[in-house]
Order: sequence, then C-alpha cells, then structure tokens
Amino acid sequence: MVAEAGIQATAALYRPGLEGVPATQSAVCDIDGQRGILSYRGYRVEDLASQSTFLETTYLLIWGELPDAEQLAAFEQEVQMHRRVSFRIRDMMKSFPSQGHPMDALQASAASLGLFYSRRALDNPEYIYGAVVRLIAKIPTMVAAFQLIRKGQDPIQPRDDLAYASNFLYMLTEREPDPLAARIFDACLILHAEHSLNASTFSARVTASTLTDPYAVVASAVGTLAGPLHGGANEDVLTMLEEIGSEDQVEPWLDRAIAEKRKIMGFGHREYKVKDPRAVILQKLAEQLFDAFGHDPLYDLARKLEAVAADRLGPKGIYPNVDFYSGLVYRKLGIPEDLFTPIFAIARTAGWLAHWKEQLGANRIFRPTQIYTGYAARELTPIEAR
Ligand code: SDX
Repeated sequence: MVAEAGIQATAALYRPGLEGVPATQSAVCDIDGQRGILSYRGYRVEDLASQSTFLETTYLLIWGELPDAEQLAAFEQEVQMHRRVSFRIRDMMKSFPSQGHPMDALQASAASLGLFYSRRALDNPEYIYGAVVRLIAKIPTMVAAFQLIRKGQDPIQPRDDLAYASNFLYMLTEREPDPLAARIFDACLILHAEHSLNASTFSARVTASTLTDPYAVVASAVGTLAGPLHGGANEDVLTMLEEIGSEDQVEPWLDRAIAEKRKIMGFGHREYKVKDPRAVILQKLAEQLFDAFGHDPLYDLARKLEAVAADRLGPKGIYPNVDFYSGLVYRKLGIPEDLFTPIFAIARTAGWLAHWKEQLGANRIFRPTQIYTGYAARELTPIEAR
C-alpha cells in the first residue's frame, strides 16, 4: 500500500516541462510574468539597459552587487587580458565543416576550454573568478573566430583598446563599429544576459550540481540554448517574416499558421502572459538604428504581425517575446542570421555563470524522480525462441 500511495503522490506532483514547479531557490533574477517586469538582483532591466554596460551587469549578476569604478575597471582589465584563445582551439575550429552551425562550433570550443584549464578548485574564490573571466572573455572571441574561419579567413586578434561590445563587432566584421551601433549592441547583451530558470540555465544548474568544471557547464547550456523553442527562435523569426513577404499577407499567413497549429516564432512564453519587456526595449533600440542607418521594411511587417497576433493570440496570453525584435536589431548591425543565437549565448554566459556560482553555494545534485509507465516485470525469451 505504501508503494501505491507513493506513486499516487508522485503523479499529483507531475507537471509536463516542470511548468510552475520551483526546481531551485535563486536570488539572481525575478520575473513578474503577469505585469511584464524583469529585474536582475533587484534592478529593473530597463534601467540596466539604459544606464549600465554589459560587463557592469555581468559583475552584478555574478557577485550580487553593482561594482564601484575601481572594481569595474579591474574586472574590465582582467576580461580584456583573457580575450585571446589558444592557437590549438583556433586550429581545432579550422577543422570544423564550414557549413556547420555556429552554435555547434561554439559548444565544441567552449567545452574544449576544459582541456586547457583542467584544474578544478570549486571551493576557491580565485578559481571561480578566473573561470568567470575566461569564459566571459573568450566566448565572443570564439564566436567571431568561427565566422572568419568559415569564410576561409584567419581569425583576427582582439583589440585591447576596444571595449567589450566594440571589440566583438570588430573581430566579427574586421572594422571598428560606429559608437551608436556598439552602444546598442551592448544594451542587447544586457537584455539577453539572464532570465531565471529558463531551459539553458536549468541545464547549467543541473550540470553544475555534479561539481563538474564550469566549461562543461557552459557547453551544456549552449547546447540547450540552440533549440528553436529557446534561443534558436531569433533566427527563425526573420525566416518567418521573409516567408510572409508583405504586410498584406500577414493576416492570411497567420490564420493559416494558427489553423495548422504552427508555433509562431518569437511569440509566447512560459512566464510572460503579456509582451516581454525585453521586446519593448529591443523595439526602441531597433528604431534608433533605423533612424541612424536607414529603415528596414521587415520591421513594418513585424509590427503588423504583432498587431494582428494581438487579436488572434493575445486572449491566450501569447505576445512577442525577446526573440521577436532582436533579429531585426542584429540584421541592421550587419550580423548574419545564424549568429543571432551565438550572440544570445555570449550574453547568457553571464547568467549561466551567476547560476553556476549560486548552485555551488548551496549544492545538492539534481536527481528528480519519474512516473514509470513501462512494462511490469516479464521473463526474457532466449533469442533462439524469439
Ligand atoms: C526564449 O524560458 C525563458 O525564459 C526563455 C527565454 C530566455 O530569456 O531564456 O525567454 C528565451 O526561449 C524565448 C522563447 C523563444 N521561443 C519561441 O519564440 C518559439 C515559439 N514559442 C513557443 O514554442 C512557446 O511559446 C514557448 C516554447 C516559448 C513556451 O511554451 P510553453 O509555455 O510550453 O507553452 P505551450 O507550447 O505548452 O503552449 C501553450 C498553448 C498551446 O495552445 P493549446 O494547445 O493549449 O491550445 O499556447 C499555444 C500552444 O499551441 N502557443 C502558441 C505559441 N506559444 C504557445 N501558439 C502559437 N504560437 C506560439 N508561439
């Protein structure tokens, strides 16, 4: 009877996708999905995106407090000193198929860092600091390196005189970015840095809970982020908008998609039942870029789709999420579509590391249970008799 009661109790706890189930306690980020409010360590993401930098926000997420000028300068200096990636990793990337997806190249190269920094001292704050600096510093370099390598070029070295966002855009495009473009890109990194227990951060925490190295933690999270239901949606949004083609096709396209029960990319969220606050800010950033560098008609199509979808999907609490407008910002910055998700990974490395550090501070290995739905015990028939 005890076993039976246990199974019934487990069934009562089961929620597909763990919807609404707290799987950890965390002080890193809070989301109010009903009111569309997102805050990192108590600071509203709107304020951070407009008044801080990505490295300042990274410091806040990982160590819990905004740095003072001296602390920020020291952190920026450390990150700048660790941007370069071993020639061995660059050579490894040169052996990757050039038509491979950059997220697979990033996952492989992030994991390879564990080969170079194999000493594991998870109880040593200096080790933690060193791993944070290396990953924050090297992930952008690896994303940019694969972009040049797959074009048949040698990756270019980071420039020590450029700030974080400018340096990434320089390594990617081989030219120094316009200051407005760099500022807007930095704000995009802040907006994508952290989002409580999303799928890739949950992966990071589960991997961290086994006390493996931080490079394996980030590689695990990169692989999870790549999926089209998660970080991969930003790339699919542009494909969807290009498929729709023109504003007069929006309504018939959407009605067909809904009738076919297709997921509209860039819409919907497990937490938000209103428009994602990040989408609101990304729209404003996109409009700043259009004012400065020329309009993108795909933006008008996106806004038409948002308006029609508000009528069709709004009543179900399905509104634009972070991925709906981010691709239009990156496209105006001249970034190839299949790099949108690797850029998401550059930013989210800050959040993954914040959760890695927090998990280590109060660790218990994740090992949930299941509801068994398979065969009861049965005899094995030897192959001769099967
Ligand atoms: C990110 O979790 C995070 O925080 C993630 C993220 C972060 O910062 O880390 O915010 C980043 O991943 C944003 C989401 C990017 N993905 C997409 O844009 C892909 C499209 N969106 C959907 O696949 C979906 O909305 C999810 C995956 C985002 C959320 O899925 P849920 O919460 O599991 O919802 P569901 O699939 O169970 O759908 C519930 C209902 C269904 O209808 P019914 O069967 O109940 O009638 O809502 C419908 C779904 O069909 N629905 C959609 C829809 N999303 C949900 N219908 C059409 N288009 C959609 N986009």
